[in-house]
Amino acid sequence: MSFDLLVKNANLPDGRTGIDIACRGGRIVAVEAAIGAEAGTVIDAGGQLVSPPFVDSHFHMDATLSLGLPRMNRSGTLLEGIALWGELKEILTVEAVVERALKYCDLAVSQGLLAIRTHVDVCDDRLTGVKGLLEVRDRVRDYIDLQLVAFPQDGFYRSANAEKNLLAALDMGVDIVGGIPHFERTMDDGARSVARLCAIAAERGLMVDMHCDETDDPMSRHIETLAFETQRLGLQGRVAGSHLTSMHSMDNYYVSKLLPLIAEAEIHAIANPLINITLQGRHDSYPKRRGQTRVPELRSHGVNVAFGHDCVMDPWYSMGSGDMLEVASMGLHVAQMTSRDDIRYCFECVTSHPAKAMGLEGYGLETGCRADFVLLQARDTIEAIRLKATRLKVVKGGRVIASTPARTAALELPGRPATVNSSEYAPIES
Ligand code: FE2
Repeated sequence: MSFDLLVKNANLPDGRTGIDIACRGGRIVAVEAAIGAEAGTVIDAGGQLVSPPFVDSHFHMDATLSLGLPRMNRSGTLLEGIALWGELKEILTVEAVVERALKYCDLAVSQGLLAIRTHVDVCDDRLTGVKGLLEVRDRVRDYIDLQLVAFPQDGFYRSANAEKNLLAALDMGVDIVGGIPHFERTMDDGARSVARLCAIAAERGLMVDMHCDETDDPMSRHIETLAFETQRLGLQGRVAGSHLTSMHSMDNYYVSKLLPLIAEAEIHAIANPLINITLQGRHDSYPKRRGQTRVPELRSHGVNVAFGHDCVMDPWYSMGSGDMLEVASMGLHVAQMTSRDDIRYCFECVTSHPAKAMGLEGYGLETGCRADFVLLQARDTIEAIRLKATRLKVVKGGRVIASTPARTAALELPGRPATVNSSEYAPIES
């Protein structure tokens, strides 16, 4: 029996060590110790971690890599970012959107990031971003699972043609219904937008992913309406609430009622640690709120929590590199999730949890799963986050599609070793 690809001596995220992974026909066909057979390609993992690919369930690919166009965000606030994006939208072309998005996809692949859910702004009568990202979805289909969310950035009711444009975008092939209830003119309009958008999704058999309560206002409670509409329409498991930052500032008693409602509706919660810690609390003096949603509490109620990157070099965020390990690292710091178990959980927030939120078929490292994975220069998931580990090999469909040399520094110190590698210092522990 021969395989297309055989990975030898890997550590897995669940703690198993010394595992071989055999792939044939684009699928994983065996995961066990000491598989002995011929293979077209053999990779010796050397006791390093093999993980399923990184997954980003919240991104804005229509705006990525546009930093400085047409000017910089001087206040650093969410609202100036939205205003700035409005200026850029006027001069956007399909070609420019495609070029920047493809550039970002190249970067994503090099980082082992092989599935991305991106919001695409539909508050533009030309639907430039939609046209661009539909083309990009086709062009990257063989190596990135790209899901598009019809996102009414300027408000579903607040923006004149948003409903018409959103429906047109869905007709053109955009996958998911988005929303931004906290940006509507009134709380009532916000709640009405949630109800209408969930109804559209139910009618068309689509998933929902809303920017929900991305504010420090503890009275912004659209997640309550989103949970209500989700269970009322039978959309359980198909709806995501992105950001949910107002929950950070809510009254504890109210949150104790809210969390079971979110769990009952099987809503996926998507925090965006890099952006939340940057944008929230901007109106505070001191002490400044962190603004990230209540990750440990959502977890303890059985809610599926994912961490998204949200932005890379755009009107809202001038940093970022498509590195989901950086996202996981920020998430655990901001949530103060520092136990060994908590850190492992945060690794899942950038791998299996967003895969679940996106409903990815064949995701994982079990027999029968797609032969998609990443070999990292780290021995376990904790070390991977700590070191923002190098992606030594990125495999898609049983084929290596990106490689990066191991990171080792040469030393020129009398009496000391010739090289240093930070992963040599990490203890393996249970
Ligand atoms: Fe976002």
